[in-house]
Amino acid sequence: MDISQLIESINQVTSSGKLENVDPQQRTQLSEACDRLKRQCESPVDKTIKLLYSCHQAIAIRLAVDLKLFDAIVKRASESEDGRVRVGQLSEDVKADPKLVGRIMKFLVTLDILEQHTSDTYSTTRFTETYVSTSWMSGAVIFFTHMFLFVAKLPEYFEAKGWKNPDDIEDSPFNFALGSKTGYFGYMSSKPYYQNAFDTVMASPYRRDEKSWTDFFPVEEKLRVQSPSDVLLVDVGGGRGKDLLSFRERFPNLQGRLVLQDLSHVAETAEISSEIEAQVHNFFDEQPVKGAKAYYLRTVLHDWPDKQAVEILSRIREAMAPDSVVLIHEKAMPETNIPWMAAIGDMTMMTAFSAAERTKNEWEILLNKAGLNLTGFWKPDGTTAQQQVIIEGSFHSCKDC
Ligand SMILES: C[S@@+](CC[C@H](N)C(=O)[O-])C[C@H]1O[C@@H](n2cnc3c(N)ncnc32)[C@H](O)[C@@H]1O
Repeated sequence: MDISQLIESINQVTSSGKLENVDPQQRTQLSEACDRLKRQCESPVDKTIKLLYSCHQAIAIRLAVDLKLFDAIVKRASESEDGRVRVGQLSEDVKADPKLVGRIMKFLVTLDILEQHTSDTYSTTRFTETYVSTSWMSGAVIFFTHMFLFVAKLPEYFEAKGWKNPDDIEDSPFNFALGSKTGYFGYMSSKPYYQNAFDTVMASPYRRDEKSWTDFFPVEEKLRVQSPSDVLLVDVGGGRGKDLLSFRERFPNLQGRLVLQDLSHVAETAEISSEIEAQVHNFFDEQPVKGAKAYYLRTVLHDWPDKQAVEILSRIREAMAPDSVVLIHEKAMPETNIPWMAAIGDMTMMTAFSAAERTKNEWEILLNKAGLNLTGFWKPDGTTAQQQVIIEGSFHSCKDC
C-alpha cells in the first residue's frame, strides 16, 4: 500500500468539507474505521498521553457547562453580525473572571469546540451548541465528570480493602470516596444538580437510539391481559417514564394498564401522558401491583450487587401471578472481547454500587436465587454497541432457553 497516497486522500477529504453530508450510518462506520486506523498508527507513548489527559479535556468542557458559557456563546454569536464573540462580553454574561473565561475558551479550541480568531475573539463550531444547558449532553458532561471523583479513588480503595472485588453496597468505592454510608442514590437525592444530570442521561435519546426492546421481544405474542383494568406492564425503577411512553406510542391498542414506579423525587419529575400511572415505590418494599402481566426493569439490577438484586426480584416474585413474567432489560456481558463502553459501564457499576454488568450465566443464577427461572433470552439481530438483551424470568421452566 502507498502510505503517502493514503495520507493525501485523507487530507483531501478532510479539507474539502465533504463529510458534512454523509448519512449517519456511514458516518459511524467511517468513524469506527478511523479509530481502528488510529489505533494501529499510535505509539504506546501517544496512546498513553492521550488517555492520561482525557480527564483534563472533559473537565474543561464541564467548567464551561457549569458556567453556562456555551449558552452565552451561542446567544452572543446569534446576535453578532460576523458570528464572533468576545471574551470580555462573555465573562460579564457568566459573571466570571475574564482571564479564566479566556483560558477555558482557549482549551475548548484545542477540542474543536470553538474556533479562535484573535486573542479574544472566537466563533462557534458544529460542536458548540451540543453543550448548551437545554441539551441532554450537558447533563452527560456533569454526570460523567462527577463520576471521575469516585473512580479516581479506586486505587486507594483497593489498597485499603486488600484488592478484593467489591460486592457489598455498604462498602462501595463510592461510599469510601465520600466517607459516608449514603450510597449513590441516597447522595444524589440531596444534590438536585447531579440528580437532574443523572435523570437527564437516563431519559436521553442516546440510551434509546439503538433498537427498542420492543423490536426484538415479541410483545404482542407474550404480553396479553384479559381486561383493560388488568396491569400489562409495571416499569420498576422506570425513571422519568420514557420507556413506557414509547411503549404506549408503539402499541396504542394493546389492552392493559401501564404503571411507572420510582422513588418520590424521580417519579415526581416523570414526563408521562395520562395513560401512564406514576406510583412512588421503593422496590425493596412489598410490590403493590399484584399479578401484573410483566414487571420490566431496565438497567436497574446492574446498580445492585447480588444480595440486593435478589431482594428486588424477590419482592416482584411475591407479587407475580403464575403467568406473570419479569423482563430484565440489561447488557449481557460477553465472556471475551467486551466492547469498551461495556467495560466502562462495568467499572462505573463497581465504583458507584459495588455491582457489575452480568453475563447471561450470571443473570440466570440471579433469577434462580430469587426463586425464578430463566425462560427467555432475547437480543437484537447482529451486534449492537450496547449489548442490550431482555432476560425473561418466570415460574415456568424452559429447557431450551
Ligand atoms: C439506572 S436508572 C434506570 C432508569 C430507567 N429504568 C431507565 O432505564 O432509564 C435506575 C433507577 O432506579 C431508581 N431507584 C434507585 N433506587 C430505587 C429504589 N429503592 N426504589 C425504586 N427505584 C429506585 C432510580 O431512581 C433510577 O431511576
